[in-house]
Amino acid sequence: MPDQPEFPATENLRVLFSRQQIHARVQQMGRQIREDLRGESVVLVGVLKGAAIFLADLARAIDVDCTFDFVAVSSYKSGTNSSGAVQLIKDLAEPIEGRHIIVVEDILDTGITLSFLQSHFERHKPRSIRIAALLDKPSRRLQPIQAHYIGFSIPNEFVIGYGMDFAERYRNLPDIRILEPIPPK
Ligand code: PRP
Repeated sequence: MPDQPEFPATENLRVLFSRQQIHARVQQMGRQIREDLRGESVVLVGVLKGAAIFLADLARAIDVDCTFDFVAVSSYKSGTNSSGAVQLIKDLAEPIEGRHIIVVEDILDTGITLSFLQSHFERHKPRSIRIAALLDKPSRRLQPIQAHYIGFSIPNEFVIGYGMDFAERYRNLPDIRILEPIPPK
């Protein structure tokens, strides 16, 4: 996909959101979710791999009875899946029928992944489905899907860190940065 730049010889990593900004926003999101749940339990469903770090922090900010599950989808962005179709490569481990679930994503981009997952989860008859996305790129949307909880709305920049990668690197950066290739001199 053109969204992913060629691997640059040198990269400039400009901080978009510091670890302090992320922490403060995740705490706010957690408080909002806790209020909305009104004491009811919830299943947090993380979408591997990018959401792993956000889920770990968000879960500790919610402070309600909560369990975790994870799904994984084949990335249609890899270039090997030219149809644009999403395929589930790891499904839920526990039943969600009758449960409140919150799908936890690091980034909502075209919406293709979450549209697919929402339809998939609806077939399991949960009591409710909400989406929590740390980042939202509304200008990129191809599917009409919205998150109930959004950390930050961002322009169309290539972001890495806090779980998000470029060619699997940078997921462990504690802040979110914009990856900018430095043009050769
Ligand atoms: C990212 C992100 C979402 C998806 C969003 O995953 O974690 O799952 O892209 O994009 P969309 O709205 O355009 O569908 P990615 O494919 O980069 O895999 P990863 O989570 O393993 O890094």
